[in-house]
Amino acid sequence: GLYGVVLAGGTGTRLWPLSRAGHPKFLHPLTGTDASLLQATVQRLDLLAPLDRIFVVTGVAHAAAVSRQLDAIPDTNVLVEPSPRDSCAAIALAAAVIARRDPQAIMGSFASDHLISDKERFTEVIRKAMVGAQQGLLMTLGITPTRPETGYGYLQCGGEIGDGPVLGVEEFKEKPSYDVAESYVKSGNYLWNAGMFVWRVDAFLSELSRQQPQLAAGVSRIAAAWDSPEREEVLGEVWPTLPRISVDYAVMEGAATVGRVGTVPGDFGWNDVGDFHTLGEVLAADPSGNVVVGHALEPEAKSGVLLRDTEGLVVVPTPGRLVAAMGVRDLIIVDTPDAVLVCPRERAQEVKHLVDELKELG
Ligand code: GDD
Ligand code: MG
Repeated sequence: GLYGVVLAGGTGTRLWPLSRAGHPKFLHPLTGTDASLLQATVQRLDLLAPLDRIFVVTGVAHAAAVSRQLDAIPDTNVLVEPSPRDSCAAIALAAAVIARRDPQAIMGSFASDHLISDKERFTEVIRKAMVGAQQGLLMTLGITPTRPETGYGYLQCGGEIGDGPVLGVEEFKEKPSYDVAESYVKSGNYLWNAGMFVWRVDAFLSELSRQQPQLAAGVSRIAAAWDSPEREEVLGEVWPTLPRISVDYAVMEGAATVGRVGTVPGDFGWNDVGDFHTLGEVLAADPSGNVVVGHALEPEAKSGVLLRDTEGLVVVPTPGRLVAAMGVRDLIIVDTPDAVLVCPRERAQEVKHLVDELKELG
């Protein structure tokens, strides 16, 4: 079986004003149902891992909210970081804690803020990735690229490995420049890295020791103290010294150059919900292409969304209030109790600059 590790960190500034430091995007129901992205991520694993094998790594600020949303997983499976040190530290901590229970466990690491529309296909792809993981490869999931996105990692695919469904990855390039990304997409030989990984914990930890010895030694000290009364003391001492680096740069790029990375291509309706425009592209739209995230207009018209002659809107209402729009198209409208965003869909990426400006103002 699989151990599932869900990473619940990061705030998602392009989803402001919905996503905030205090209430990041994974806690929001951006799934088209009542489930939050985090809850949907855990539900999606139900055919792969039993609940007592699902771990969540999150910051101290969100641990209570995470436990509340995931009341079916044991509280001891919520691994709490004293401060954010990026994805490598978070993943390494989970791997080291799981390795103490089962040194050859196969672990899958999943972002808590992605949408996946085809769960069956996803489950099948993870099962295939487990075959590669069993052979000692660090497995990625590959998505067919549709644009030269510079915020993703790219996988240069080689031939099939063994007789399984696994392809070798000759190069892993995290966040290339626009020109490089464009040449990759044109070549037809690259896939996007979906940001989910499957590997045997021993294979991952040995690559970590090779490439990031300080991080490996640090998490191994923490894991050794995990079930002892010294846990908080060791965590408080070691955690702030861990290098702040993502797993893509820290481990995956270097592992690919020595032939230890594999991939399973799988188009399972993946979207990383980075901004409101892409959110609008995956959720169901009305016949005019308007997407309402959350609740429709309530009968008494006290809250929800009222649209007349609009096209291509993405509207996020806030509970207890009404959003009405008329005669406009291709806009994003997000209402929250203390801030409203209105902007054209094509400028959704730039919302993070607004957040930077607001931060400067204090
Ligand atoms: N617990 C915890 N603590 N989780 C973290 C932390 C942290 O300090 N930092 C990041 N994460 C989690 C995020 O919540 C997310 O689920 C995952 O790690 C990836 O981090 P992002 O910051 O969202 O990375 P990215 O989107 O820039 O890039 C990654 O995902 C892309 C696909 O969406 C990479 O893996 C790319 O290669 C990939 O294409
Ligand atoms: Mg991301």
